[in-house]
Amino acid sequence: MVPSGRPDGMLAAMRFRRHLFVCTHSRDGLGGKPSCAERGSPAFIAAVERGLAARWKEGAAAVAVTPCGCLGPCFDGPTAVVYPDGSWYAGLRVADAEAMVSHLLGGPAPRAYDWSDDGDD
Ligand code: FES
Repeated sequence: MVPSGRPDGMLAAMRFRRHLFVCTHSRDGLGGKPSCAERGSPAFIAAVERGLAARWKEGAAAVAVTPCGCLGPCFDGPTAVVYPDGSWYAGLRVADAEAMVSHLLGGPAPRAYDWSDDGDD
């Protein structure tokens, strides 16, 4: 284990209740696979962040949203994963942001990605 180098209390402050990672990988139209950025993941993240800001008093400070690199199932993007649930999402649209915000604030999980359908990437 490597010490973080952070002063006491910083790591405690980073213990989020839920952490959403959204793929924002871009291939700029190159390569044989689609990528989530071209499929709208930045707009999805923006909608989630607006939703969290609007519901700040419901506990949004305990939620983190982090853009990330390719999560794997590129053909089904935009993709995301929520921890600590470990639930994956695909085909995300701005219209899904409200349900995701509710989940991040403690509500039920939206329907998760079905890995049994995978195999195209
Ligand atoms: S580019 Fe988003 S999952 Fe691969």
